[in-house]
Amino acid sequence: MVCLNNEQIKKLEKQAVQDEYRLHYHLMPPIGWLNDPNGLCQFNGKYHLYYQYTPDNCLGGSKYWGHYSTQDFITFKNESVALYPNSSLDKGGVYSGSAMIKDNKMYVYYTGNVKHIGNYDYVNTGREHNTIMVTSDDGIKFNDKICLMKNTDYPDDLTLHVRDPQILKNGNHYNMILGARTKEDVGCCLLYRSEDLKNWKYINRIVSKQPFGYMWECPNLVKFGQQTILFCCPQGVENQGYNYENLYQNGYYLINGDIEDKYELSEFIEFDHGFDYYAPQLFVDENKRVIIIGWMGLPDVPYSNPTIDKGWQHALALPRELTFKNNKVYQYPIEETKKLRREKQVINLQKSFVLKNNCFELYLPINNQEFTLRLRNDVVVDYHNQLLTFKMKESGYGRDIRHIIIKEVQEITIFSDSSSLELFINHGEYAFTTRVYDHSSNLEIDVKRDIQCIYYELNSYKII
Ligand code: FRU
Repeated sequence: MVCLNNEQIKKLEKQAVQDEYRLHYHLMPPIGWLNDPNGLCQFNGKYHLYYQYTPDNCLGGSKYWGHYSTQDFITFKNESVALYPNSSLDKGGVYSGSAMIKDNKMYVYYTGNVKHIGNYDYVNTGREHNTIMVTSDDGIKFNDKICLMKNTDYPDDLTLHVRDPQILKNGNHYNMILGARTKEDVGCCLLYRSEDLKNWKYINRIVSKQPFGYMWECPNLVKFGQQTILFCCPQGVENQGYNYENLYQNGYYLINGDIEDKYELSEFIEFDHGFDYYAPQLFVDENKRVIIIGWMGLPDVPYSNPTIDKGWQHALALPRELTFKNNKVYQYPIEETKKLRREKQVINLQKSFVLKNNCFELYLPINNQEFTLRLRNDVVVDYHNQLLTFKMKESGYGRDIRHIIIKEVQEITIFSDSSSLELFINHGEYAFTTRVYDHSSNLEIDVKRDIQCIYYELNSYKII
């Protein structure tokens, strides 16, 4: 595959995409394709958000690391591409990975993908999956790529699907976790340990009590006090009633015990129930906030996006802060999101409204009543008999129906952008993220008791 250089990419990006579905306060690829967020960190006074990027093909292809930086999550700088698939270790794509800061240096780990020409058995023989480390003093320029692990270094019972390294600082040492698929088609993670971020030793395998899917992508370990949590994206899990309705899952396990020794995983808990949420990455910022950013999309799905005709596809979901309460992870857009708000408006929602535009935040105190809410022309959120149903017709481009069982709906906050919706229920006990393609801005609600909603139009991000 041909690897573009900085000049060629900047030239492509200058062909600004004109599309009414471009989002106003979500990060998108300047042009082409975006998937997973990568290397999220706060370093030298800036947040760095890298992402899987294919500038020359909006259907995906060879992956680069695109790069936005920001200080306030309102103004973002489109930095030059950070990592290119330009070495023998990663010529099939600079796949997903993460960053860790130590002694004023950024350490980045990712999977170098190499596909062998003419051998299409990408599970067992036709590819390389190298774990690569690069360091940087500024997050912009990266030093030489160092291969930490290659095919023959991983345990023998695994396929060639081992990828997406993420690092956890664990006391005075570090753990690296990698997503993997065994030859028996069981999804799991590999755990490594290092004292210096450079020399890594394989120490444990993280598996669920019962097999759960054939591959776990994008694992992330995080600690809330004593509680360790493993986020991951299992593939190959069958739909069971109202559970696991997407093709691939996003969610987490609570880990009891010691990940480096004896431990047990809880049941898998789904994290975001919407059509478009995958491969989230977490990091801890300098204020000790646990921030998560997900890809507002999903691979290999049967539904489509009309943006393809305009030369771009996908976006990142809003950055959300995580908290851990009652054995559950709660998520809510980070505080900075409030800076997007225009004037506060209180509306007494009786029946139907036409809002000025589709960029808004709307707070609905539902107070545990049943309701039907219609957004735009054909998005219907319905809550009856403890079942929340989300339905779309034409505006879903194939996205149709999803469910969440919820005992009580106290409140919902909706973040609506030109072609996306993010719903946070009970202040982030449940979340629902989807793309939606419709220009109408109607709002209609059917409730027994009137409710007073709080509504803000939202400003756009500034991209420089
Ligand atoms: C998840 C994923 C990762 C991989 C990357 C490649 O969406 O498949 O496992 O590293 O995307 O773009």
